[in-house]
Amino acid sequence: MKLDGKVAIVTGGAMGNGLGIVKMFLKYGADVVIIDYSDQINVTIQELKSPKVTGYKADIRDVDRLQKIVKDVIAKKGKIDILVNNAGVARLDKFVDMSDEVRDLHFDINIRGTWNITKLVVPFMVENQYGKIVNLSSVTGPMVADSGEVAYATTKAALIGFTKGLAMELVDYHINVNAIMPGYIMTPMVEGIAKDSNQVDPSSVIKGIASGIPMKRLGTIEELGELAAFLASDEASYITGQGIVIDGGSTLPETMSVGA
Ligand SMILES: NC(=O)c1ccc[n+]([C@@H]2O[C@H](COP(=O)([O-])OP(=O)(O)OC[C@H]3O[C@@H](n4cnc5c(N)ncnc54)[C@H](O)[C@@H]3O)[C@@H](O)[C@H]2O)c1
Repeated sequence: MKLDGKVAIVTGGAMGNGLGIVKMFLKYGADVVIIDYSDQINVTIQELKSPKVTGYKADIRDVDRLQKIVKDVIAKKGKIDILVNNAGVARLDKFVDMSDEVRDLHFDINIRGTWNITKLVVPFMVENQYGKIVNLSSVTGPMVADSGEVAYATTKAALIGFTKGLAMELVDYHINVNAIMPGYIMTPMVEGIAKDSNQVDPSSVIKGIASGIPMKRLGTIEELGELAAFLASDEASYITGQGIVIDGGSTLPETMSVGA
């Protein structure tokens, strides 16, 4: 299988897209280490019922803790082949209303957290002359945006710059760095956005989102996980520095008034 013998770290793997990625990595034979700050991590690991998955309850903003975790993973597994920077947050609010705390929450988790764990893992990849880094960006920021998404969009666009810059620096060490740019994937994050939208029925918000997507549905975490598994595999060996869109065609329409 395409990830046999590989050791992967997936941040935010307790639920949502991260869980989809963990499931697909296990399906393709990888050893998976989840880092997540939610208590759900223990439930998820139990439910996955696989000897190949372990985890650490930790916040990716806590550099000291990350340092200990990376050291521990290396001591136990001997290497880190794959790093998926999936942990991220989205709290929607208008630019003029958004507190500095909420702005910084996005910057600290989505950008600094990703930066910090990557900086700790890269030296081991360089030493091995091998690595696959996959960053969860979004179509939000690099391609599109809705009202209330300024902070989130800023961080997700930043991750494209991060991906490209790092890809150039690491190319000589046989390390591929790519980004996934999802449209709407059905996860607790999207459910939360629907609940916070002040609509009486959050499911009507999800239906409204689906109706605007050419495929008329949101993506699944398994579909997202399949793309991550491909980018983390040697089958994607000639791809680096790219942002791959997975959005059911949501960014495709050229003329909004013309249906499919
Ligand atoms: N769901 C979508 O439609 C969508 C679209 C585009 C991009 N994305 C990106 O995909 C990634 C995952 O999104 P999701 O929808 O699955 O979100 P989610 O909120 O459903 O799950 C995120 C997971 O990350 C963990 N996490 C968050 N901050 C953390 C931190 N500081 N330290 C450790 N763990 C942390 C959470 O506990 C949770 O398990 C994010 O980076 C998000 O921006 C999602």
